Amino acid sequence: MCGIFAYLNYQVPRTRREILEILLKGLHRLEYRGYDSAGVGIDAGDGKDWESNAKSIRLIKQRGKVKALDEEIDKQQDIELDVEFDVHLGIAHTRWATHGAPSPVNSHPHRSDKNNEFIVIHNGIITNYKDLRKFLESKGYEFESETDTETIAKLVKYMFDNRENDDISFATLVERVTQQLEGAFALVFKSVHYPGEAVGTRRGSPLLMGVRSEHKLSTDHIPVLYRSCAKEKKGCTALPRIDQDTCLFPVDEKAVEYYFASDASAVIEHTNRVIFLEDDDVAAVVEGRLSIHRIKRTTGDYPARAVQTLQMELQQIMKGNFSSFMQKEIFEQPESVFNTMRGRINFDNNTVILGGLKDHIKEIQRCRRLILIACGTSYHAGVATRQVLEELTELPVMVELASDFLDRNTPVFRDDVCFFISQSGETADSLMALRYCKERGALTVGITNTVGSSISRETDCGVHINAGPEIGVASTKAYTSQFVALIMFALLMCDDRISMQPRRREIIQGLSVLPDLIKEVLSLDDEIQKLATKLYRHKSVLIMGRGYHYATCLEGALKIKEITYMHSEGILAGELKHGPLALVDELMPVIMIIMRDHTYVKCQNALQQIVARQGRPIVICDKDDYETAKNSSSTIKVPHCVDCLQGVLSVIPLQLLSYHLAVLRGYDVDCPRNLAKSVTVE
Ligand code: UD1
Ligand code: BG6
Repeated sequence: MCGIFAYLNYQVPRTRREILEILLKGLHRLEYRGYDSAGVGIDAGDGKDWESNAKSIRLIKQRGKVKALDEEIDKQQDIELDVEFDVHLGIAHTRWATHGAPSPVNSHPHRSDKNNEFIVIHNGIITNYKDLRKFLESKGYEFESETDTETIAKLVKYMFDNRENDDISFATLVERVTQQLEGAFALVFKSVHYPGEAVGTRRGSPLLMGVRSEHKLSTDHIPVLYRSCAKEKKGCTALPRIDQDTCLFPVDEKAVEYYFASDASAVIEHTNRVIFLEDDDVAAVVEGRLSIHRIKRTTGDYPARAVQTLQMELQQIMKGNFSSFMQKEIFEQPESVFNTMRGRINFDNNTVILGGLKDHIKEIQRCRRLILIACGTSYHAGVATRQVLEELTELPVMVELASDFLDRNTPVFRDDVCFFISQSGETADSLMALRYCKERGALTVGITNTVGSSISRETDCGVHINAGPEIGVASTKAYTSQFVALIMFALLMCDDRISMQPRRREIIQGLSVLPDLIKEVLSLDDEIQKLATKLYRHKSVLIMGRGYHYATCLEGALKIKEITYMHSEGILAGELKHGPLALVDELMPVIMIIMRDHTYVKCQNALQQIVARQGRPIVICDKDDYETAKNSSSTIKVPHCVDCLQGVLSVIPLQLLSYHLAVLRGYDVDCPRNLAKSVTVE
């Protein structure tokens, strides 16, 4: 969705040029979250003293990618770039339009009024914005954009204009604003009335803070401040007094820098010390001190926020020698799949340990059914592993698209176990489905790539897939790691079943060689590139398969449509004669997946049916399958693996094919039109 980045330097002198560079770099890192427009808000003054400089705010916004904003900033003749600020807050945003077309006026930061008294950046959707807007318009506030976010900027000014006294803190104003908001949000505010101060808050959308200082920090757990006095004393509106014990600050010196970001990839090059904010936290930086506020304490609340050390490395979010993140992530799969298994499978004695599930596995073994819930590629990981889950757990397994699962009000019971598969751990539909299942008493299990994400935190237990950050919008390495994580879960479920041991050993053996087999598939890249040159001018591609490879068809077709904008359909070969066969002729490109498993003969029949209609299928098959090669116009030969893992190998040629098709068609592989990496709105 949208990307939030803000940077506050306190007693760390920075020129305006440096500040803008930091903000733009932060936006570049987040660009995969949304990229139809971008904007920054910085102090406007050019005087000697930072406090007076902060009395006016300059907004620069532009339609298009962050590069367009960068060029727009270069065009601003009247901006003095060498002026230095001891204290400064800059906020920046990259947008994925929901309310209102991409345009400078609809871009963030949004402002409270023509004087830019308050500005705000927002990620998420405010569902009651129409009512709020009507109310604010009735009070004389004039709107300029079509966005839901602008109501927040106006609302904070309304709270300020109607304050009961001048001592009111910025955090209190923001708290009052969030009490009026419905929907999902992560917000960062800046104001001319609170120079050098920043306030950030979230509900339903991710927001974290990075902190950097040369000096030791006062604490590594920031106690949360509750506004308990509101109940006790009538008319008490100010937040409790903030003192040494409730703030984070550098001990020996004042110099400190803070970053707000919607994900860690934007802060990691500055610091690995981060604080993940919880829903309804209001984080305020005043005079270089960070405090965290909440209105009331509820049961189960952890009354402090930890300063955590991020394990992520900068190089993990750099493209290196690859032309795009997607290409890099496809080629990373031998390592990412290995990392999913690292420390969890002992190949010597065939044991699987998932630290995140060990306390719950007995309960899961007793359940009535497993429900796998997800969106997009993550849903396909569920489809891909359903059969082996059914086989090894002997439980009914449902695989559900989160949106449809919610639309249907699907019955869920206390003895169900619900899995939420999500790379980002923030996808709105999956998160809502998680809350729905929790309310009904089911045990919830996350399969996520993002430590600290909402799904990771809100599930009862789960498995981090440890694939490393995935930046390309079209998911690749997360899919194969989700696949492997679900297989490991299936293995764990039957580890004490004697009858299952030969099968378990076969699969574990297969997992041990999987990274090498992935490397072998990746070596087909040149061959696949050549194939792409024959296909890229076509409008449509059909991908057919069955059994373990139906998911590969769906996932391959999704990759192709996401980044090449060609029409592509994943077709269950068993359904061929019930409709899709009508599409087949000598012109329609068809890709078939035929592997030597229990569906082999049936797939051969499908191949014959295609060939009989003058179709000239390209077949992904086992490398020693000469029979299939005879009937195909071309083949992509992949190494053989145990049947239930073969899907990890059959999907990679399609990832590569979609990548090459997109390059040949001249499209931006990492930032496909109309899409975003993390869809935090319904
Ligand atoms: C954990 C550590 C890992 C360390 C290993 C050593 C973390 C994040 N992981 O890995 O760094 O090397 O121990 O034994 O600190 N969880 C959910 N929902 C999810 C995903 C995870 O609730 O969607 C929970 C798990 O139940 C578990 C915790 O998060 O309590 C960590 O999960 P995971 O990283 O998968 O556990 P380990 O593999 O044991
Ligand atoms: C978006 C992404 O649609 O969300 C897809 O563009 C992704 O790549 C889908 O598969 C689900 O995301 P997540 O983070 O829940 O796995």
